[in-house]
Amino acid sequence: MKALKYCIAAGLFALGTANSASGLDKAAEALYQRHCAACHGAQRLGGIGPALLPQNLSRLRKKAALEVIGQGRPLTQMPAFSGQLDDAELDALADFIYQPPAEEPNWGLADIRASHVVHHPKGSLGDKPVFEADLQNLFIVVEQGDHHATLLDGDSFEPIYRFQTRYALHGGPKYSSDGRYVFFASRDGWISKFDIYNLKVVAEIRAGINTRNAAVSFNNKYVAVGNYLPHSLVLLSADDLSPLAVLPMTDGAGNSSRVSAVYTAPPRESFIVALKDIPQILEIPYGHIAPDNPRVKRIKLEDYLDDFFFNQEYSVVMGASRPAGSEVSESAVSGRVIDLDSGRKLADLAIPGMPHLGSGISWRYGDTTVMATPNLNSGAVSIIDMQDWQVLKTLETEGPGFFMRSHDQSPYAWVDVFFGPNRDKVHVFDKQSLELVKTLAPVPGKTAAHVEFTRDGRYALLSIWDVDGAVIVYDAQSLEEVKRIPMSKPSGKYNVYNKTHYEAGTSH
Ligand code: HEC
Repeated sequence: MKALKYCIAAGLFALGTANSASGLDKAAEALYQRHCAACHGAQRLGGIGPALLPQNLSRLRKKAALEVIGQGRPLTQMPAFSGQLDDAELDALADFIYQPPAEEPNWGLADIRASHVVHHPKGSLGDKPVFEADLQNLFIVVEQGDHHATLLDGDSFEPIYRFQTRYALHGGPKYSSDGRYVFFASRDGWISKFDIYNLKVVAEIRAGINTRNAAVSFNNKYVAVGNYLPHSLVLLSADDLSPLAVLPMTDGAGNSSRVSAVYTAPPRESFIVALKDIPQILEIPYGHIAPDNPRVKRIKLEDYLDDFFFNQEYSVVMGASRPAGSEVSESAVSGRVIDLDSGRKLADLAIPGMPHLGSGISWRYGDTTVMATPNLNSGAVSIIDMQDWQVLKTLETEGPGFFMRSHDQSPYAWVDVFFGPNRDKVHVFDKQSLELVKTLAPVPGKTAAHVEFTRDGRYALLSIWDVDGAVIVYDAQSLEEVKRIPMSKPSGKYNVYNKTHYEAGTSH
């Protein structure tokens, strides 16, 4: 009875506010404050444990959350509560963390600034690497299983160093142009700057509550962070991560938007921002960032575009179009091609389903350049002629793919099957004949995904995306396995040279 009364009170209270808090169960809230807040934060923004807000938990099913709360997570600080709470209480807690809070949490400049930690000020560490290796042929491998990253020697394929990262990295680490530093973004908004030469985290800051990704300017001066929560883009100094500006993502007419992703566009000397809820592309020239009032250029679009692929010159962007409030495009037109200088639409992309343009790659084909994109909801790779934006060929795969990769020095393009019963397979296509060369299934039953090449393109590294997983090294020519390196749910891997030279065969 008591709980019911509280619910009604909360519901009435919510009538007067913008956010619906009617679902918030006061009894569950009290349980949360008593048992969880010490680690997950009074406002669920995180602490020792991750943030527990619906946006942050979007990849965790409620059933899985219930199991974590009851059983805990072995080998972590997350305790098991099944001994002290009954089933109804556990249920109520699992429901509670998927409810939006009564008031949308804010994370402004003052909060960001207060979270800033400089572990090693600039100049306090040596400029000579503490290990020996080809510094341009290093990989960072993100291991999601236990929130670590491994620095891998790209010649010997021996791990050089393994270190803990923030909880749930998101969006791919980014290198400074000389390859000395790497910047990580986490789901909960933490940005970490890691000095590869000294194997140390030098600075950290929390730039948001729920973050999509970070980008580093090509002049190594700025880091831009795109957030889902709050609706902001945050600009940091790449030196020590101190905050420079928080840009609310609004359209000027009272609407605000989540940031889908922020990209760096080296030839344009700007950041490009893809928005989820406003039909615009934003461009922020590096030169206009200092002192504190960045100028933002807006390209107005006919529909919502995100998941960008740029041509090598960064004059043209391809974006996936999705109707507002939907993740999947129903129409035959699933993408647009936009000229970034004029803001004009150059073409519609007629690709059925949901192309994953952001992991597209491009290469020379005859007298034109083509781009290839996997599809998130059908077993197809679309090859598009970048002169007339027509689909040149559709390659059939054994299921929807996520990542695609190649290298200038390799005749082959690799695409994984990420979803469905054939998740353990990876296809290798010939870039000139556009025919299937080989289908690999290195560990039956375990997802094989995400390929990255060595600097010279001679080897391709593939992840076995499992807690008991591995990175498998293939000879990129013979397609024979060379080595298996055990890892904990390795996801992306990032080669210093390929990433800092904007290799056409790798997503940027
Ligand atoms: C002593 C600290 C601590 C307490 C108390 C605690 N947690 Fe946790 N919790 C953690 C840590 C640390 C993790 C991350 C574990 C890992 O590395 O996978 C976690 C993870 C979780 C996750 C998984 C989140 C994700 O994104 O995968 C959920 C759900 C969760 N906790 C819920 C709760 C609830 C509900 C309570 C209270 C009943 C609670 N926790 C109490 C420390 C704590």
